[in-house]
Amino acid sequence: MKKPVQDTKTVVGAIDPDVLAFTVGKDPILDRRLAQWDCYGTAAHVTMLTAMQVEPRIFSAEERDAVLAQLAILRDRARTGQFEITEADQDCHLAIERNLTEALGTLGRRVHTGRSRNDQVAVAVRLFTRHELLGTQDEILALAEALIAFAREHRALPMVGRTHLQPAMPSSVGVWASAYGEELLDTLGIVRAAYDYVNKCPLGSAASYGVPLPIDRALTARLLGFRAPIHNVLAAGNARGKMESIVISACEQVMLTLSRLAQDLILFSMPEFGYFSISKEFCTGSSIMPQKYNPDVCELIRSKAAQVCALAGGAASIVEAMPGGYNRDLQDTKALLMEALDVTRASLRILSRLVSGLQPHPDRLRDAFKDPGVFATDRALELVAAGMPFRDAYHQVRDHLEDLRGMNPDETIAKKTHAGAPFGLDFDLYARRIAEEKAAVRTLDEAASKPLAELLGA
Ligand code: ARG
Repeated sequence: MKKPVQDTKTVVGAIDPDVLAFTVGKDPILDRRLAQWDCYGTAAHVTMLTAMQVEPRIFSAEERDAVLAQLAILRDRARTGQFEITEADQDCHLAIERNLTEALGTLGRRVHTGRSRNDQVAVAVRLFTRHELLGTQDEILALAEALIAFAREHRALPMVGRTHLQPAMPSSVGVWASAYGEELLDTLGIVRAAYDYVNKCPLGSAASYGVPLPIDRALTARLLGFRAPIHNVLAAGNARGKMESIVISACEQVMLTLSRLAQDLILFSMPEFGYFSISKEFCTGSSIMPQKYNPDVCELIRSKAAQVCALAGGAASIVEAMPGGYNRDLQDTKALLMEALDVTRASLRILSRLVSGLQPHPDRLRDAFKDPGVFATDRALELVAAGMPFRDAYHQVRDHLEDLRGMNPDETIAKKTHAGAPFGLDFDLYARRIAEEKAAVRTLDEAASKPLAELLGA
């Protein structure tokens, strides 16, 4: 005979403990990171309820201030990792309501007026993500800046340009490094688009169907520093999951760039190439082979990129399978979102340091030009400049590749002066773009953080 299971008492009623454990999953741990953001969401909601024209009032001004003071305490506890969420709480949302009720009695029992956990969690996840994406943008800019500084310093240093990994045409270290820098600046646009998507407020949509109370959704959006509310209540509800999928996809795009950069670094720092050396502090040794310095950081960035691609697929698959309206499946997008942001940000930070310490080896870079074939296209184009049709020049050079021996890579790349070529790279343009993007991130940061500080204090 199976022992009957005793129900566990929660804020919202009794639940079978096995069902509770299964449905709660990792929320008591993951939500420790969301709790501080829910405090802001709850503060905005309570402030709005206080201003709402109903009789009797839900909160007086003094009652509101008591709730806000308590929320500030909970916010500080959450920030310092001291906010406890039990399984019976289910998640940070009910844990906050329990804490408010323990501290303030009936006032705590009023805070959930006119909202659902569904808009509550959506707003907390958006505030969390907004904060993370501001950090991500800073970190993208720092890596782009490191790559472009490296490119500028070594812009005249020849480097074999490759296609199919085979020597193709003379190029430069400047082109190689600033290519990744520019790719990151362009990818920042994708992250910015994700930020704009995130920066709208779902609060007040409740369970996606609105409430029969005169709530002011524009006010809560403004109090939380969002650029606008998501207008349609069901659109606000349905955007959960979609938002996470968009953000993870943006992370995926960043990681695709980092992965190829990491792969180039692994390859070009091999003894057989020896173009660059990765500073020893970014390598690890072997337990058996005393001579080893392995490029583990770059290898792990390659695998992290693969994982973020998988997370993007995972989030899209969860969303794709669901009907509209809230479904508990959505809870599982939270772990994917947090992991993608954590991995992407950590990869950006470690690569910035690695690139800043990267050492080029001019002799090895020039040695790679010994095979004369790499000059073939440049020579054919010299013949073209003297009047020969390109196809004739192509055949003539192909039939006399040995004649190219002794061509000088430094002189060859110095002739490539058009926009974006080795001697036509516009480093002032890059500097301007970086400065503009930094200012844009600062503006977004202020628009997001000032209202929050006004709501609950810094
Ligand atoms: N922790 C839950 C989540 O992340 C909160 C929402 C639960 N809502 C519900 N209707 N069961 O989705």
